[in-house]
Amino acid sequence: MLNIQENFNLQKFSTLAVPSQSDFFCEVNSFEELCEAVIYARKLSLSFFILAGGSNTLLPELLPGLVIYINIKGIEKKEEGGSVYVRAGAGENWHSFVQYCLSEKSYGLENLSLIPGSVGAAPIQNIGAYGVEIKDLCSKVFVLNLDSMERETLSNSQCQFSYRESVFKKSTHKKKYVILAVEFKLSTRFSPVLEYPALKSIVEQTLDDEGKDLLPKTLAQIVIDMRNSKLPDPSEIPNAGSFFKNPVVDSSLFVELQKKYPTIPSFSIATDDGRESDKLKIPAAWLIDQCGWKGKYLNKVGVHEHQALVIVNPEYQNVSSVLELAETIKKDVLAKFTIELQVEPQQLYERS
Ligand code: EPU
Repeated sequence: MLNIQENFNLQKFSTLAVPSQSDFFCEVNSFEELCEAVIYARKLSLSFFILAGGSNTLLPELLPGLVIYINIKGIEKKEEGGSVYVRAGAGENWHSFVQYCLSEKSYGLENLSLIPGSVGAAPIQNIGAYGVEIKDLCSKVFVLNLDSMERETLSNSQCQFSYRESVFKKSTHKKKYVILAVEFKLSTRFSPVLEYPALKSIVEQTLDDEGKDLLPKTLAQIVIDMRNSKLPDPSEIPNAGSFFKNPVVDSSLFVELQKKYPTIPSFSIATDDGRESDKLKIPAAWLIDQCGWKGKYLNKVGVHEHQALVIVNPEYQNVSSVLELAETIKKDVLAKFTIELQVEPQQLYERS
């Protein structure tokens, strides 16, 4: 039986802690309850919205309609050869899931430790950190197709993953699917990914000090410590992680900018077939930092003092104030570098 609540306060469902209220709210714990909630909304001609961990979500002050909170749990594991297929319900907490995999000796997700949010949200923006993205490990995404009201399974290629993008964000598909569960192809053999220079140097330092082989749990702990040192814990200082994507620019623009700003950092990016592309990724944090925004506030919403890519909302301002700061930052970066930043957190899509 669904428990539909009226005039529901959503503030604690957004890691940015913006004040937000929906006309109606219900939590669903299974595929059947999700279908029941969708049918209920349609019967009453209510728009509905799908909410999960709320760590990459921009909630408006008022949401007319029904918010369906996905709390579908459960983890299953099967081994085939040297691979382990681990399937987790969309409502599982991401970090707890990563820790579970480690405890089960199923390796691959170590670098993605401590990312806030739920398992179901992970494929939407193809979460990534320290040289690993879930596109490298996600084998299947199980969804409810809202058009047919049937279950469907999407393969890795059908998810169309790219940097902080997937089919679940494309205008043609974003209203169509609700993620139920995600399967990852992990390994019983630990092969650390140490491409990210800052991670590599801390790992080398730790191994020199301790003189041992790198253990999976040591790598995960190093990632946790790195994140804790730079990124604010949303339960202490409300935030939504990186607020902007790192922009990808033509190498010709980069060369121009380099003449003016010789210290501008960049990362090369690979094309889908593994070749190096003629585009480069520039850290948005550096661009924002150069515009003098680090540690600064506008209308009580600020830029984190240790990581300029993170917008913090310690005084629970509303989403308009958050977006006003984001727009001001975007304007400054555009004026100084002719680069247009893109906001990473998503508005909730209205579905019907
Ligand atoms: N930098 C600055 N000022 C700052 C912070 C960074 O100039 O305040 C420059 C430095 O040159 C640094 C570079 O930016 O070397 C890159 O910074 P960092 O290594 O902290 O990573 P990032 O590019 O800012 C990305 C992801 C993070 C992820 C880290 C680690 C995006 C939008 N962000 O940040 O993801 O944790 O790499 O892999 O791709 C998230 O998506 O919410 C998120 C936190």
